[in-house]
Amino acid sequence: MAKTYSPAGTAPVTVPRLKIIGGSSGRLLAILIARELDLKVSEVEIKRFPDGEKYIRINEDLDDQNVAIVQSIHHSPDELLFEYFLLCDTVRDLGANKVIAVLPYFAYARQDSRFNPGEAVSFKIIAKLIEDAGTAELLSVDMHRHRVERVSDVFRVPVHNLTAAPLLAEYIKRNVKLEEPIVIGPDEESEQWASMAAEVIGADHDVLEKKRLGADKVEIKTRALGVLGRDVLIMDDIISTGGTIVEASKILKRQGARRIFVACTHPILVHDALARIYESGAEFVVGTNTVPSPVSYVSVALPVADALRRI
Ligand code: R5P
Repeated sequence: MAKTYSPAGTAPVTVPRLKIIGGSSGRLLAILIARELDLKVSEVEIKRFPDGEKYIRINEDLDDQNVAIVQSIHHSPDELLFEYFLLCDTVRDLGANKVIAVLPYFAYARQDSRFNPGEAVSFKIIAKLIEDAGTAELLSVDMHRHRVERVSDVFRVPVHNLTAAPLLAEYIKRNVKLEEPIVIGPDEESEQWASMAAEVIGADHDVLEKKRLGADKVEIKTRALGVLGRDVLIMDDIISTGGTIVEASKILKRQGARRIFVACTHPILVHDALARIYESGAEFVVGTNTVPSPVSYVSVALPVADALRRI
């Protein structure tokens, strides 16, 4: 129930309270976020009919509540987005005051332009669909926005784009004794994360120049980086096929880097990405739990909970 206040002599005012719901790919993170907020995750039943259609039932009174739906859009993005649309509309239909989409990994953001004639600009389309489903505010973590200057250029609703870069750097700082460290971003966009990590670690930073040749092929331009004999932390937002990190790590090794550590917010790690990264000479890889993986050692539950407190 929403809380009702009635100071002496005034009409009662209903203040919406927060409920947390986890979709199929957000349940664990929803529990961790709810724990930070001293809340319990609301009960949701999600199953499939024999013909493949999804069934959703929310066993909770949502009347006048603010509802955060946690769903990380990784690995089966289309299915998980569709599930989000069903959840969002149902929450609204059950009388919620507003829906806050907590989409820690936001799929489709890399297709933010029409690179070739006739292509769908998927980032903008997905943003529109999420808004049209009834989302009032959106919260994400290190949303990819390479050619988009501000996320508010893509969305009409308020967007809170948190970053996990300082948390990742703190994890590395606590667990690894780096010698003469330098932080390297594998492309221009990663400069923002490399600089934040460098500040936490107390190191300098630089970026490589990357050209994407295909979905799983990248070319990284070599230039002298001053990594000789130094420990390098490569910082990126996403590791998908691992192609970017493998190329970067080979170049850094060739330039005489001592040890290579890798940190990313979203360890999607398709196929044998993690094995290829270790084979390329990296000592250690760390990611966050926006995408559950064997290297998701860092939790984003606290910053997400703090952001929800402020909404
Ligand atoms: C691209 O600009 C991103 O920041 C990542 O570098 C990229 O998505 C990583 O993909 P992959 O692991 O497939 O190279």
